[in-house]
Amino acid sequence: MQAKTPSESKTIMTDLVLPSETNPLNNLFGGDLLARMDRAASIAARRHSRRVVVTASVNHVAFNRSIPLGSVVTVEACVSRAFKTSMETVIDVWIEDRESGHRTKANEAIYTFVAVDDMGRPTPIPALQPETDLEKERFEAALRRKQLSLVLAGKMKPSEATELKAIFTEK
Ligand SMILES: CC(C)(COP(=O)(O)OP(=O)(O)OC[C@H]1O[C@@H](n2cnc3c(N)ncnc32)[C@H](O)[C@@H]1OP(=O)(O)O)[C@@H](O)C(=O)NCCC(=O)NCCS
Repeated sequence: MQAKTPSESKTIMTDLVLPSETNPLNNLFGGDLLARMDRAASIAARRHSRRVVVTASVNHVAFNRSIPLGSVVTVEACVSRAFKTSMETVIDVWIEDRESGHRTKANEAIYTFVAVDDMGRPTPIPALQPETDLEKERFEAALRRKQLSLVLAGKMKPSEATELKAIFTEK
């Protein structure tokens, strides 16, 4: 299988925040944002693998800024690293100032998807070839995040998480 670049999976979804999607403070519900990010990231994972994909884990979500009612929200997702059957996707969320059009980063998250066959069994995917400095940085860190996620899920022994351990032993 031929390697693909992050830009080949890049997915951009822009939408409004409507009253039914807000909390009593008139900000977007966290769960609604998680669903928007899941949709964009799953499309990115499908574009990379050209397979059915399932969400395996939500590794990191940072709700840095609330998103007010009426905001124009842009969710951008792309695959940051592909392993054998699983792939990490990075999601950035932006809100747009109504008057100036200036974009501010509101949130970010990392979701992991697994490509599956018609029987729901994990199936191999193409490798990822990062191009920009940011893509290379995210690619390098992805193995640590995968190991952390597997350890937390009870699917890997901490003693086997060599990349993860290296962070704590760095001088
Ligand atoms: C995700 C799923 C396919 C993994 O199945 P599994 O039997 O654990 O399969 P494997 O152990 O072979 O793992 C498959 C890949 O997923 C990765 N993986 C599994 N759990 C993971 C986790 N918690 N975090 C990160 N990666 C994970 C494995 O490392 C492996 O990656 P690799 O092949 O790239 O090395 C299976 O658990 C599933 O179908 N879950 C339900 C998914 C779903 O319905 N999601 C919707 C939201 S509820």
